[in-house]
Amino acid sequence: MLVTKILAVMIALAIITDVNAYKIDNNAIKFIEEQEGFKPNFYTDSAGEVILKKDLVEKEACVTELTKIKINPDQFSALVSFAYNLGCPYYKSTSLLKKLNSGNIKGAANEFRLYNKSGGKIMPGLVKRREAERSLFCKCGGC
Ligand SMILES: *[C@@H]1O[C@H](CO)[C@@H](O)[C@H](O)[C@H]1NC(C)=O
Repeated sequence: MLVTKILAVMIALAIITDVNAYKIDNNAIKFIEEQEGFKPNFYTDSAGEVILKKDLVEKEACVTELTKIKINPDQFSALVSFAYNLGCPYYKSTSLLKKLNSGNIKGAANEFRLYNKSGGKIMPGLVKRREAERSLFCKCGGC
């Protein structure tokens, strides 16, 4: 009986323990709110945050699922911000993700800067966002 229970717990743990099963922390949520130009008074504060957090859960799952190598929490947060902005299907097709999954952290970091256009035009806001994401991605080194 006890052995069966212990076994069940071990199997459950193995299932939920994903290599990059991070949840982004409050600093990272603030970071993405800033990048999104989140306006606290536009919605009521809490309604806006509920929408943002629902979207974030989706993007966290997207990044977790698509990342095939071990990354750190700052890299994870930077990728969630990036995927949040691009959308998961587009994120999936990026050269950034390909370089990341081949273990080329430095190469992946340099890819952020390429995604600076909207409607074919370089947008200063996107250039800034990509720099901020790259800095967060590289915060603990490896770039
Ligand atoms: C913007 O992206 C292009 C590639 O699409 C790149 O060549 C250029 O260096 C980027 N500009 C900045 C300021 O990062």
